[in-house]
Amino acid sequence: MDTIITPEDLQHRLDDLRNSQMSIGLVPTMGYLHDGHLSLIRKAKSENDAVVTTIFVNPLQFSATEDLDTYPKDIESDTFLAKEAGTDFLFTPSHKEMFCDDVLTAVSVQEISSVLEGASRPTHFSGVATIVAKLFNIVGVCSAYFGEKDWQQIQVIKRMVKDLSYRVEIEGCPIVREEDGLAMSSRNVYLTEEQRKEAANIPESLLKAHQEIRAGERQSTIVKRIITERLDRSSAIEIDYVELVNGESLKITDQIDEQTRVLVAVKIGSARLIDNMNALKGLDR
Ligand code: PAF
Repeated sequence: MDTIITPEDLQHRLDDLRNSQMSIGLVPTMGYLHDGHLSLIRKAKSENDAVVTTIFVNPLQFSATEDLDTYPKDIESDTFLAKEAGTDFLFTPSHKEMFCDDVLTAVSVQEISSVLEGASRPTHFSGVATIVAKLFNIVGVCSAYFGEKDWQQIQVIKRMVKDLSYRVEIEGCPIVREEDGLAMSSRNVYLTEEQRKEAANIPESLLKAHQEIRAGERQSTIVKRIITERLDRSSAIEIDYVELVNGESLKITDQIDEQTRVLVAVKIGSARLIDNMNALKGLDR
């Protein structure tokens, strides 16, 4: 595995690969790699000739009150894990290498960026779209792998790819969960032992909702209430939203069908945690 720190260097290395007809898989991350990230790298490796994993804590997607300064980092462990999982090129630019100066350009995907996560974090998806657009421009033609825990992020990126004609295939990959069902996230490290136990209520609330859906329930309001009541049992959990939406348009749906996605966002202590499932299929396991 080669570690590369400048966009120009990565561009040249990947141009050489493409000239030899090699396919490229891209796994963009903000580091502090866990099994969820590693599953993306392994999938990218199984489907491409070479894998680029990027590690960049992107300041554009954090608001002034969010955890940019405390976002967890462990570059030594990340380097080891990324290599073990099959990364060929680890791209770890510093802020200066990514943006020589201030960034004056922003990519913004309208409508689907302002609901759900975007309602609480109005600048977040523009920050994500801008950095992902930059990574796509650096890496070029490739398949890019993203975890479905960030369901809305994938929809925003897919729409950007469509609207701006990026030659990038977007691959959404199933959520990887801890033993008790909690979706893996770098931010789980913020939880105290007690909060970590309470966090298991998130997947449990989705499981409970899915049981009712399997038993025939099709009304969104009822499913929403089941989830909310289950989460409200824990005083540690502060609900941001529980919504049932069309998985692509992210528009709220009253009646459940194959396209319906159930999305949940909560705060536990200082951690903001999200989870989701297809309403009819249930939790990824
Ligand atoms: O999902 C993430 O880790 C980030 O939002 C991403 C896609 C790497 C962009 O910074």
